[in-house]
Amino acid sequence: MKTLKITIFVISIFLFSCSKGNKLGTKIASPNKAIEVVFNVTEKGEATYTVSFKNNEVIKTSTLGFNLKGAPSLKRDFKLINTKKSSFNEVWEMPWGEQTKVKNNYNQLKIKLQETSELKRKLNLTFRVYNDGIGFRYEFPQQKNISEVFITEEKTTFNLTDDHKVWWIPGDWDIYEHLYNTTLFSKIDAKSKANRHDLAQTSIPENAVNTPVTMKTKSGLYLSFHEASLVNYSGMTLKVDTVNFTMTSNLVGSNNLDYKVKRTIPFHTPWRTIQIVEKASDLIASNLIVNLNEPNKLEDISWFRPTKYTGIWWEMHLGKSYWDMASGKHGATTKNAKAFIDFSAKNNIGAVLVEGWNTGWEHWIGFEDREGVFDFVTPYSDYDLQEVVRYGKEKGVEIIMHHETSAATETYEKQQDTAYALMKSLGIHVVKTGYVGKILPKGEYHHGQYMVNQYNNAVKKAAKYQIAINAHEPIKATGLRRTYPNTISREGLRGQEFNAWSSDGGNPPEHLTIVAFTRMLAGPIDYTPGIFDIKFDSWKKDNQVNTTIAQQLALYVVIYSPVQMAADLIENYEGNSALQFIRDVGVDWQQTNVLNGEVGDFVTIARKERNSENWFVGGITDENSRRMNINFDFLSKNIVYNATIYEDGKDAHWDKNPTAINIRKIEISSQSKINIKLAPGGGFAISLKPKK
Ligand code: NOJ
Ligand code: CA
Repeated sequence: MKTLKITIFVISIFLFSCSKGNKLGTKIASPNKAIEVVFNVTEKGEATYTVSFKNNEVIKTSTLGFNLKGAPSLKRDFKLINTKKSSFNEVWEMPWGEQTKVKNNYNQLKIKLQETSELKRKLNLTFRVYNDGIGFRYEFPQQKNISEVFITEEKTTFNLTDDHKVWWIPGDWDIYEHLYNTTLFSKIDAKSKANRHDLAQTSIPENAVNTPVTMKTKSGLYLSFHEASLVNYSGMTLKVDTVNFTMTSNLVGSNNLDYKVKRTIPFHTPWRTIQIVEKASDLIASNLIVNLNEPNKLEDISWFRPTKYTGIWWEMHLGKSYWDMASGKHGATTKNAKAFIDFSAKNNIGAVLVEGWNTGWEHWIGFEDREGVFDFVTPYSDYDLQEVVRYGKEKGVEIIMHHETSAATETYEKQQDTAYALMKSLGIHVVKTGYVGKILPKGEYHHGQYMVNQYNNAVKKAAKYQIAINAHEPIKATGLRRTYPNTISREGLRGQEFNAWSSDGGNPPEHLTIVAFTRMLAGPIDYTPGIFDIKFDSWKKDNQVNTTIAQQLALYVVIYSPVQMAADLIENYEGNSALQFIRDVGVDWQQTNVLNGEVGDFVTIARKERNSENWFVGGITDENSRRMNINFDFLSKNIVYNATIYEDGKDAHWDKNPTAINIRKIEISSQSKINIKLAPGGGFAISLKPKK
């Protein structure tokens, strides 16, 4: 395990004070000067900011502040106490990730404000301006007149310049598993356009969107709004004013409280972020969200190694087996787990997930009284946990633990220590968690402050037992993987499972071409690709995966996660030559190059494996067939590579002919260019290994 290396190149600080607001405001620009933020205090004493890109306004004058319970709101009568600018430039290392080295270079403006009115409360603001966007946050400093705040609403506004094109999901307080909508800003209608989903929880109180929300302006600029470092606070949705093109923060609340966030002072809020780039592909390349998080607090996490995995999972979603033993078709048996271990060992896959191994599944979904039901240490009688783990070790395959909490949070909290200790004693280092259903205690939402703390506390506790977490029904990713790198992956989108059972026909072919530029900007995704039996008619006639098989391969490169599932049933892989790509593909990257992309249309990504000279390229398209030119000039100059290309077969089509695939081998060097055809709903995957 490499220790974290931090190199600080420049730190320069200068300071000036003034007592009154300054008409022109205080400016801070990005290191390359393209992005500029101007902070100002208006006549009424409101704190405002504007953002421009290459001298064109991106965010018009927008106000900042808070509504509080039991105290006057904190949003006007401010005077500027002082401002302080500084610059920062470092390179830090990801213990695992899309690249090894990350450049973190920004200019910072710190602002101290104080009310002129009676209470004279103080509020600070920090802006960080990067070449690829901005982040800002509020700080409540230690002060005389307040020691605690009850925030009823954060009043951060984003005043847009025009009726942009927007890729959005509704601002649901419970789940992100919605299909993306593509509309003009003026046409956002989160309440009626909320796509159906077949899960037990959903709550959309306002015409608001969830983040990351991505937009394209008429002049071709891309903007994506999100948050970084969501800690002890509520998740932020953005309420839209479709007439004035303004978004205002709308924090997730709780039915049990008359406020949304409670904090003792001092504290600061999460960062509010805007990625601003000229090419859609630069959204994916941006490291703004991780850069705004604090450095690794765990130091050594060499006990976690990125891995591919198979699992007793898809078979439950297809109805071949079930989680609960009393169903009579229990999937998690010792015998079945061993079959997955054997298959994984043979195919260069390092781990096996076993769902339905523990007691409680007979009472997990659709029940109000879910507390006290799941038991995270007791296996069903037909599953010998110790023996499965032992057998896996013998074959070099790790077991991935599964903790479905059914959103019964108190039950999970009570058992965490014993459950994690059991894992540690068995040498298991990864757990997939789940929070299906309405949150218990009743009245709480998945994305409110109570749950943000549940998710974050689980990660911190797990780290003590050398355990990494892949959360399903999670809180959104906000880059905390930098601080706690045992936060390895999560769901938080409509995953592959919807294709197995969704009554709306599953994820349409355009889904992942939008996800790559929205949800994926937040962090790693456990999408669970690799379905080869696309139609699975022997299990379900009315559902299917809406991509070609070549696109399923491409997803190992396009969708980033340090745990990447080969999700299909073992029998669907046996004898299929496309499996070679899953055997070969890396899961931990030295370098990532986004070769092309347009939101909702297509994207191609090349990634170089860590500790090797191997490259992998993946490209996907929406429902439209297209041709793509791939230029390999990113390859090492003096190496010739043996490339295997997995492309859509001649008449491939996501619906009419999804399994048609053509596999060919050629030599490729940095001078090579190829033209490749993607079928409707199709894609391609290429593995490149240096010629010996
Ligand atoms: C929902 C998760 O997304 C899915 O992967 C899992 O199989 C079920 N919950 C059961 O925990
Ligand atoms: Ca499209």
